[in-house]
Amino acid sequence: MATKNTVLLTRRWPKVVEDALAERYDLKINETDVPLDAAAMQHAFETADAVLATVTDKISPACLNSSERRTKIIGNYGVGFSHIDIDAARSAGVVVTNTPDVLSECTADIAMTLMLMTCRRAGEGEREVRSGQWTGWRPTHLVGSRLSGKTLGVIGFGRIGQETARRAHHGFGMKVLAHNRSAINSETLQQTSAVQLDTVEELLQQSDFVTLHCPGGVQTRHLINAQRLALMKTGAFLINTARGEVIDEAALVDALRDGKLGGAGLDVFEQEPKVHAGLLELENAVLLPHLGSATAETREAMGLRVMKNLDAFFAGQTPPDQVV
Ligand code: DGY
Repeated sequence: MATKNTVLLTRRWPKVVEDALAERYDLKINETDVPLDAAAMQHAFETADAVLATVTDKISPACLNSSERRTKIIGNYGVGFSHIDIDAARSAGVVVTNTPDVLSECTADIAMTLMLMTCRRAGEGEREVRSGQWTGWRPTHLVGSRLSGKTLGVIGFGRIGQETARRAHHGFGMKVLAHNRSAINSETLQQTSAVQLDTVEELLQQSDFVTLHCPGGVQTRHLINAQRLALMKTGAFLINTARGEVIDEAALVDALRDGKLGGAGLDVFEQEPKVHAGLLELENAVLLPHLGSATAETREAMGLRVMKNLDAFFAGQTPPDQVV
């Protein structure tokens, strides 16, 4: 009988997927479910044929360039892969795959959740009720701003950006502006009733809500900085379900504190799981613990998608979601 390839999970996965992987592979699981440190990650790369990593792992050139490296494929559990040194993977000849499509709708749902929570002051209201401070209905109590009919600027018009635009336009009658690195095809623009703008600056100036759906990494680090925040409409709302590093958090705290922005809804942070102390103090910041893809259906689908890529790779085929 042929020996099974060794596959290492850096975190716990949905049971159904762990079971399916265990049937096909010699599966090793980081049972502690605590992120591996650099030494443990190096060991993983020296002992497993495949490392199934995720956003909490930092995959550095040290692991990829190790002369003892056994790993030939990193199956990333997630669509974003800015935590993997892609150039090092490419030059080492290590294949990297991700999990597009399956999490787009759930992540768009979280973007809408954050929009509604910020403009309708839902976080503040919840804290008030739970702390016993609510004194009853009154016409001037926790008055927020309306979402319906407002202008939404979407930065990054890939699958998640488009799903968010669809919800915003068809569900809430929002006017959609889009900024994207490449031209958006006319059919996609039509389906979402979006208008593509050439620059981030134009989009920021014209939007009541701005939602980020671009990839993370060095190219988009601090794309939203103090200068760009200053261009936003006074009282506008900023939503981030992409990657924390896209926003300069210190500049965002200033913009929220001085009333330039009406609010921010964040599902991702620059130093996860650490959150900027300034954000924690602000009533107009809604903060979620990276929940974008966190539904049972999606987390299972993500795992099965990684497995599909792995199966293709070990069968000598090109994995369907190969990014390197
Ligand atoms: C993703 O898929 O990129 C999620 O943010 C989890 O990594």
